[in-house]
This record gives sequence, structure tokens and C-alpha cells, in this order.
Amino acid sequence: MRIIRAKDYNDVSRKAANIIAAQVQLKPDCVLGLATGSSPVGTYQELIKKYESGDLDFSKVHTVNLDEYVGLDADHDQSYAYFMRTNLFDHVNIDQANCNIPNGMNPDAEGECARYDAVIASFGGADLQLLGLGPNGHIGFNEPADAFVKGTNKVELTKATIDANARFFESWDDVPKFAYTMGIGGIMQSKRVLLVVNGEKKAQAVKDCFFGPITPKAPGSILQLHPDFTLVADEAALSLVQDLL
Ligand code: GLP
Repeated sequence: MRIIRAKDYNDVSRKAANIIAAQVQLKPDCVLGLATGSSPVGTYQELIKKYESGDLDFSKVHTVNLDEYVGLDADHDQSYAYFMRTNLFDHVNIDQANCNIPNGMNPDAEGECARYDAVIASFGGADLQLLGLGPNGHIGFNEPADAFVKGTNKVELTKATIDANARFFESWDDVPKFAYTMGIGGIMQSKRVLLVVNGEKKAQAVKDCFFGPITPKAPGSILQLHPDFTLVADEAALSLVQDLL
């Protein structure tokens, strides 16, 4: 595990974008695993700037996103498909036919999870997987549980996650209660993992996941076993582990 210390959110975003940009420059036809949530938004903005200045070409890049809410179609403004278009894809020269995300409208959970695992397998895993971290230590939508789930799966979101995501919806009742998420196996299959985290409200999750035992109760802790894992964190997110660095 490599820890890159950043000053604040903007610094996290610049540092993470530099790593992703290097990946795309070194392998223009790479597969990027992408994430949603507020953590990667700044990273995407920095990537857009690099594209606009002529430093990045996304024309050969393929993407595979982590997760999607069950029941939201790609045009719903809180779907992760919509998030990816508005925060990144619509602003760079990526071919959106090359962008993969679970289909939240497929009622056949088993079929959808198998289809998505086949997509991931066809790539042999992502070259670089970008991740955020849930306040309860979840990655993708792999919630704290008794066991790590390997493949893409349909998860029932915990109350903590629904609470955390309610700010994006009109009411708590409107927040979807289920999601399709890439499993821990899909994430661990990627050749490099880059996790961005900022703010005091994630400090406990950072401590539990990256400085504690490897346990499905803190899903991100599995990343301690990944051979090429980089954590980009700001001072606030590292505030509980300063003595351990
Ligand atoms: C959601 C997403 C995760 C993300 C998490 C944290 O639950 N499924 O992939 O990491 O939110 O979100 P934020 O970055 O907004 O704190």
C-alpha cells in the first residue's frame, strides 16, 4: 500500500488525476474502472482540464463502472450512468459505446450480474480502478458484511449508506434501497487500485480499512492485500492515523 498525502480535496483531485493521466498516456487503449460519489468529482474535473489542454486522449479508452442503483434508468439524474455522463464522459472524447455500467433497470438480478462479470472478464480486469470510500468503509456498494462477495451482486444498502446518499434525493424514501455492484473479486482483479478520500467524516473508515485487520466488516480493508494499491488522502481523512504514518 502506497499512501500519498494531500493537503485538501483539490490536492487529492490533482494528484489522483495525474496518476490516471499517466495510465492513459502510457496505455491509450487502457481499461479504466470508474467510481461515482462526490470524492472523484474533482479528479474528473482535472482530467477534463487535461483533455482540454490537449494532454489526454480518451478515444481508445474503455471504462467499467463500479455500481448502479437498482430501479433508476440511465436518464434519471441520480443514476450513476447520468453522473458519469455529466461529470466526465460528455466532456472528453471518449466513445460512450466503450463505457460499461450495470443496468439498474434489468429486473433479472442474476442475469445482470452474470452479464457484468462477463464484461469485466472480457477485459481481464481494469488496468486501473478508481475508488471512493463509504463512511462505513464500503467500496463500490460492497457493504460491511460477514463475508466478502466475489462477483457482481445485488446488494441491499445499509441504513448508513441510504442516509449518506439521501442528500442527493428529494426525500429518504426516494433513495433506492438496492444496487448492483461489482464484487470484491472484480475490484481486486484490476491491475492497479487508486482510492481517493478526503474529510474528517471518512477518518474512522480510513483507520479501520487501512490500519486495521482485513475483514468484510470494513470492506475496503481487502485492498491491503492488493499488490498495487495507492491511497490518496487529505490531512483530515488521515487525522486518526497520523501516529501510524
Ligand atoms: C456511494 C458509492 C461509492 C462511493 C461512496 C462514497 O455509496 N457507491 O462508490 O465511494 O458513495 O461517496 P462520497 O464520495 O460522496 O463520500
